[in-house]
Amino acid sequence: MNNKHTGLINNENENENKSFLRTLIENNVTRRLIPKGLSWFGCMGGLSLVAFLIQVSTGIFLMFHFVPNERGALDSIHNVTHNVPYGWLLQRLHAIGPNIMVGMVISHMLRILFKGIYKHPRELHWVSGACLLILTLLIYYTGSMLSVGNVKAHSGIHLTYIYAIHVAGIPLIMGLFMGMHFFMVRTTGICEQL
Ligand code: HEM
Repeated sequence: MNNKHTGLINNENENENKSFLRTLIENNVTRRLIPKGLSWFGCMGGLSLVAFLIQVSTGIFLMFHFVPNERGALDSIHNVTHNVPYGWLLQRLHAIGPNIMVGMVISHMLRILFKGIYKHPRELHWVSGACLLILTLLIYYTGSMLSVGNVKAHSGIHLTYIYAIHVAGIPLIMGLFMGMHFFMVRTTGICEQL
């Protein structure tokens, strides 16, 4: 009886969750119409987010293989690219992605700048965005220090610090700033229909 009762409650909860999730997805994704005249420039904020998420997921994969010390770093990169299935692809994506992401973030910023969207009431959107640009450049720089060409130039403890900042410090702060950035955009709404 108890089990049956518990089962019923679970089913009810499951249905509630399903409809909440379905509504959330429908309202924000599947039932959203793409506006006419949508330009590539107008998409750069959203595409910067997609690029960031690709970096995080390929980066998590690389973390399982990278050895952040003087002796192991170079060998571990060679191991990922030559011995791990699809390792070469994910390593390449993680290495090329930042160049594209930096381009996207700068295009997003230039659109905001030239259209004057940084003005009241969006000053803080701009400030949080500027912090995101600095963080994007910092994560790019620390990542390039860990690349095949540069990793040998750093001594053990230095390399470990750079690695910790690159994989944990900066991404966490970026997540926080992105949360604030999106919350602000959600609060004011976007300036013009994309
Ligand atoms: C990792 C970096 C960034 C991400 C992922 C990001 C993402 C987004 C997204 C998704 C939007 C809403 C859609 C849009 O208007 O494009 C947005 C809006 C905005 N962003 Fe960014 N952004 C980033 C960096 C920046 C930078 C560098 C600036 C300027 C310094 C900036 C300033 C703004 C402003 C002012 C808005 C409001 C636009 C409006 O109301 O129409 N963002 N951002």
